[in-house]
Amino acid sequence: MHKKLFIPGPVEVSEDVLQKMATPMIGHRSKDASILQRSISDKMKKLMYTKEEILLSTSSGSGLMEGAIRSCTRKRAAVFSVGAFGNRWFEMAEANNVPADLFKSDLGEPTTAQMVDEVLATGKYDLVTITHNETSTGITNPIEEIAEVIKKYPEIVFCLDTVSSLGGVKIEVDKLGVDICITSTQKALGLPPGMAICSMSKKAVEAAKNVKFRGVYLDLLTLHKYIQKKDYQYPSTPSLSHMFALDYQLDKILEEGLDNRFARHEEMANIVRDWAKKNFELFCEEKYSSATLTTIKNTKEISVADLNKKLGERGYAISNGYGDLKEKTFRIGHMAETTVEEVKVLLAEIEDILGLK
Ligand SMILES: Cc1ncc(COP(=O)(O)O)c(C=O)c1O
Repeated sequence: MHKKLFIPGPVEVSEDVLQKMATPMIGHRSKDASILQRSISDKMKKLMYTKEEILLSTSSGSGLMEGAIRSCTRKRAAVFSVGAFGNRWFEMAEANNVPADLFKSDLGEPTTAQMVDEVLATGKYDLVTITHNETSTGITNPIEEIAEVIKKYPEIVFCLDTVSSLGGVKIEVDKLGVDICITSTQKALGLPPGMAICSMSKKAVEAAKNVKFRGVYLDLLTLHKYIQKKDYQYPSTPSLSHMFALDYQLDKILEEGLDNRFARHEEMANIVRDWAKKNFELFCEEKYSSATLTTIKNTKEISVADLNKKLGERGYAISNGYGDLKEKTFRIGHMAETTVEEVKVLLAEIEDILGLK
């Protein structure tokens, strides 16, 4: 039996979007391929609120995270982490011999603007990475406040991980001054995993020109050059199947209306948060709680594994906690095409299984 996914990615994908993955192939050097990539790019610019260039990568989001820190750090990167995915960015820097320092918050606590200011005031750094929405703990960082601080340091290339938020939350890339905003297909965008997307500002392009060892496949400058010189083409063979589906799904997202989509995500989050507060506790302070997933403290010491097994028999899947938080928390994803009604049905099923009524 297929289990309807309420995990924080990959998400349920609509049947019509899945069908678009089966579109017959075109040549990746054809005019049609350029038209397809340009069309995706134009729509992504709307979703990201940016006039900067959009790059595609046939990798998951991690590919562009690695590409960004490697391609654009000239001096030293300041990596701010609020959990597993911030830590991963630091590991990528280390593994690529990119000078970097890690600034961690306690689990469930945000990166604050003050932390960022203190670190950047040292003058040691020219690139910053921030996780917008940390999927391991369900925390959303106060991005407007952080962005205001980063604007004081014009030499900084600002990289933002929006893998689990873009498409469900308004992220105004140009207004925030984000130079590289990264996301991937399998979360709030509502597509199968396998493609990553980022914006790249002119500042980031200039920075990359001054980095000698940018690698090959994940070199952001090469991806950018191909768009300019080859009229919206991709240096190697991209996942055209994802591109067909992405182009189509972006039409659906824009048809829903961005504000409607963001409001639907907020409504789903509010329902799950209220339910969590009534029956358990929220893991993060409510003002930092994510709009695309909710992490719930297992205050009743239920067996999350048993709950998920029973949910599975009814055709649903949620997530246990991440890493050390495995049985201490559980996570409910509410993003992409999930509806408010579906969320309510899921919560009623959980109540029924746990005898919470
Ligand atoms: C916040 C965050 N950043 C980065 C990643 C890595 O993205 P991907 O799995 O697409 O490589 C994930 C994946 O779950 C994530 O949730």
